[in-house]
Amino acid sequence: MSFLKVEEIRKDFPILEEKIRDRKLVYLDSAASSLKPVQVVEVVKKFELYEYSNIHRGVYTLSQKATQKYEEAREKICKFINANSLEEVIFTYGTTDALNIIAYTYGLKHLQKDDEVLLTIFEHHSNILPWRAVASMKGARIKYVDILDDGRLDYSDFEEKLSEKTKIVSIAQTSNTLGTLVDVKKIAKRVHEVGGVVVIDGAQSVPHLPVDVQDLGIDFLAFSGHKMLGPTGIGVLWVKRDLVDDIPPLRLGGGAIRDVELDRFTLLDPPHRFEAGTPNISGAIGLGAAVEYLMKIGISNVKRHEEELMKYTFKRFEEFGDSIIVYGPKDVSERSGIMLFNVEGMDPNIVGSLLDSYGIAVRSGKHCAHLLYRRLKLDGAVRASYYIYNNVDDVEIFASALEEIIKT
Ligand code: ALA
Repeated sequence: MSFLKVEEIRKDFPILEEKIRDRKLVYLDSAASSLKPVQVVEVVKKFELYEYSNIHRGVYTLSQKATQKYEEAREKICKFINANSLEEVIFTYGTTDALNIIAYTYGLKHLQKDDEVLLTIFEHHSNILPWRAVASMKGARIKYVDILDDGRLDYSDFEEKLSEKTKIVSIAQTSNTLGTLVDVKKIAKRVHEVGGVVVIDGAQSVPHLPVDVQDLGIDFLAFSGHKMLGPTGIGVLWVKRDLVDDIPPLRLGGGAIRDVELDRFTLLDPPHRFEAGTPNISGAIGLGAAVEYLMKIGISNVKRHEEELMKYTFKRFEEFGDSIIVYGPKDVSERSGIMLFNVEGMDPNIVGSLLDSYGIAVRSGKHCAHLLYRRLKLDGAVRASYYIYNNVDDVEIFASALEEIIKT
């Protein structure tokens, strides 16, 4: 397995040297938040300690330089997702913030009574609740596309639910639970044929696979910094250029305004009109460093690396027979590096705590996707998720721990 030089990469993550319960840390919770490499932390530290000032507000050297660094981060992100222009790349506080902004700006402006918003049954709450709130304000309806028994998206159900009434389709490119990959390009084409727009929750996809917004043909994309080696409290909302002028900023205030008179005001051009208030400056600069790190190792290699780890996990899990129930597509090319499972007859939280005693970090519970768990008639599951610093040894320790848990 040589898509990534994992042993080299691991040296960039000092936390991996830490012992948990006297054992080697096996971090399998990157779908919740990724670890941070020294390269990102050092950039943030240097900025905070030696280069800090507010941005877009000062003519003095320090402020000019800080502004330049913040805008350079935007340029890196623009390149990373192949955005058409910098105006399309808006800094937010994270994916949840970005999805709320789309719902409360585009959604509130364009949804009418009896219009429909199409989501999937596996959406994260952050991609359900803002739409439900705005739909109820406007008298619009929410519909959920179902999954097939193996956890793949049911594209026939999507076709059945898609109609001229569908104004917005908001879907995760990768499910945060089942790991299912969605054919976004195919969906976007169909949604545009009926006159709707496509919002992609990229929280679990942008960190793990190549995402080219122009090639996908989508209208909005939301993702977070902290799941892709960057700091918390920073994320991105990408809006297709044609739509940027069509949405009003959700927040108004300093830094977003060109002029204010007693009875009117004029906004700055995008993207700054959407970034009122002092933003998370060091977070954005840190995210720029994270993107640089990912571009250096190659995002396609990240995808291939995770596929290899998943293949190996499936192989090891086969040895457990019926003692382990795995959810989501069986073909690793149709899912990301997320393994959702239960140990037969065991509470997922107990399995999570037992794995912790082996130094293994996983997330158990319902993963902010209650609709999916209702659909699957499950009280929860255990989720192990991989990233660039996980190696075969991690999978081996994880599988051996499960073997012991099953036996005892
Ligand atoms: N959205 C993150 C997860 O799926 C926190 O765990």
